[in-house]
Amino acid sequence: MTITTAATAAYVLAALFFIRALAGLSRHESARLGNAYGMLGMAVALVATVALTLDDGIDPPAFAMLVAAVAVGALIGLNRARAVEMTAMPELIALLHSFVGLAAVLVGWSGYLHVEHHPEGTEATALAREGMLGIHSAEVFIGVFIGAVTFTGSVVAYGKLSGRLKSAPLMLPGKNVLNLAGLAGFAALTVAFVVEPRPWLLVAVTALALALGWHLVASIGGGDMPVVVSMLNSYSGWAAAASGFLLGNDLLIIVGALVGSSGAYLSAIMCKAMNRSFLSVIAGGFGLEAPTGPGDGQGEHQEITAVEAAEALAAASSVIITPGYGMAVAQAQYPVAELTARLRERGVQVRFGIHPVAGRLPGHMNVLLAEAKVPYDLVLEMDEINDDFAATDVVLVIGANDIVNPAAAEDPTSPIAGMPVLEVWNSERVIVFKRSMATGYAGVQNPLFFRDNTRMLFGDAKERVTDILEALKHLAPATGKTLTGTRS
Ligand code: TAP
Repeated sequence: MTITTAATAAYVLAALFFIRALAGLSRHESARLGNAYGMLGMAVALVATVALTLDDGIDPPAFAMLVAAVAVGALIGLNRARAVEMTAMPELIALLHSFVGLAAVLVGWSGYLHVEHHPEGTEATALAREGMLGIHSAEVFIGVFIGAVTFTGSVVAYGKLSGRLKSAPLMLPGKNVLNLAGLAGFAALTVAFVVEPRPWLLVAVTALALALGWHLVASIGGGDMPVVVSMLNSYSGWAAAASGFLLGNDLLIIVGALVGSSGAYLSAIMCKAMNRSFLSVIAGGFGLEAPTGPGDGQGEHQEITAVEAAEALAAASSVIITPGYGMAVAQAQYPVAELTARLRERGVQVRFGIHPVAGRLPGHMNVLLAEAKVPYDLVLEMDEINDDFAATDVVLVIGANDIVNPAAAEDPTSPIAGMPVLEVWNSERVIVFKRSMATGYAGVQNPLFFRDNTRMLFGDAKERVTDILEALKHLAPATGKTLTGTRS
């Protein structure tokens, strides 16, 4: 068996591992196994690619450069992955997407310099003989375009997610016309490049795509960033697939298509979760900062102490916990898991309600709760639990804000109107854990905090949950599980 045949077989095997990885990652129970399949697939792919490169007779200096680049990249990657906080994961992912985009641009340019730039060279003449030169030019152009859009789009997403850039959308006049003109310009330049591959056309499409990627993401407001992250994930997949065509690497095409389509599917799920159409996300404007004062004319909020919260929990029959970004910041998942165990020992039914965009990346809350060993069967999705709030004694909103904002359901003028939310206000009593009356990610005030059945428990979520655990130790298990509520 030649090295080429063995490598092709290895690529098929790696592709199967990647498909198993995606299937595994779709459920909590199998996510770990899914990750293992992904790592195995990547290892097989790397070994096969190195073997193929050696078989092609690469010169020793070029091979040494390849090894050095892989080693340096692996070291930086390992270091970043070890150091990154879970809450900073989305910005790291955005930054990694930007590398995929940049790689696709470089692969495209290198393809041009090897082929179209040397029309008399062996590669160009062979392609011309087969009538494939135009196809190659189109691959170069499309790869550079998708890669450059992904690159600047991801850099802007990184800036917004890490707070280095303002999350409010950039509202240039006629911004949708600008985007459409960018796409039309790309189509016209592609035709011109396929007819005659002049270098200035490639320079023009690179500049156009860099500007378009920057404008597309800069125009999208903070509230839509979850969709943007998965959309860029999808773009990076298509950019990789385009590079796969150029490099003649089947595995890169398969993996790029898997990433591209799963990212697109995830974007569709996110849009559904936020009741937004994909086009309206691209058109932007959602997440405009609402003019809000501290109370925004909503009335007075009422506070509760940790001891009173513990008493309410001890007297409850049913409790739902809705975690959000603040639980991740405070790393409160461990005391929350312990609180769940203590309450269950007391005969209280405890469940979790997870909003699809809670936190800062898809599945953020599920990962934290799994890390703290909260049983999976207590963790329910928003659609599964939303009707149960009305029959619930106490809801603990732990570091969540936008995802429990009644304005989304009740105020058509709210910047987040129409986004489905966890309807916690229907329960007997709501206890909100946060440090201040500040707004959440979308910058919108939350009327929940001023409702009669809501009590604010101020402070770091981890400290307050620990205080409740301490107070619970001194409370005898309740005999009758009834709670007098003050629902408004
Ligand atoms: P947010 O609306 O951001 O609210 C989090 C709340 O946690 C804040 O109001 C903050 O209030 C509180 N908090 C922060 N640190 C805390 C601490 N140490 N202890 C206690 N509370 C703390 O979060 P959410 O409700 O989870 O909603 C998610 C938002 O992020 C949505 O708008 C969503 O669109 C957006 N987003 C989501 C994603 C994905 S994919 N999930 C990606 C990007 C953006 P204080 O400052 O007063 O404490």
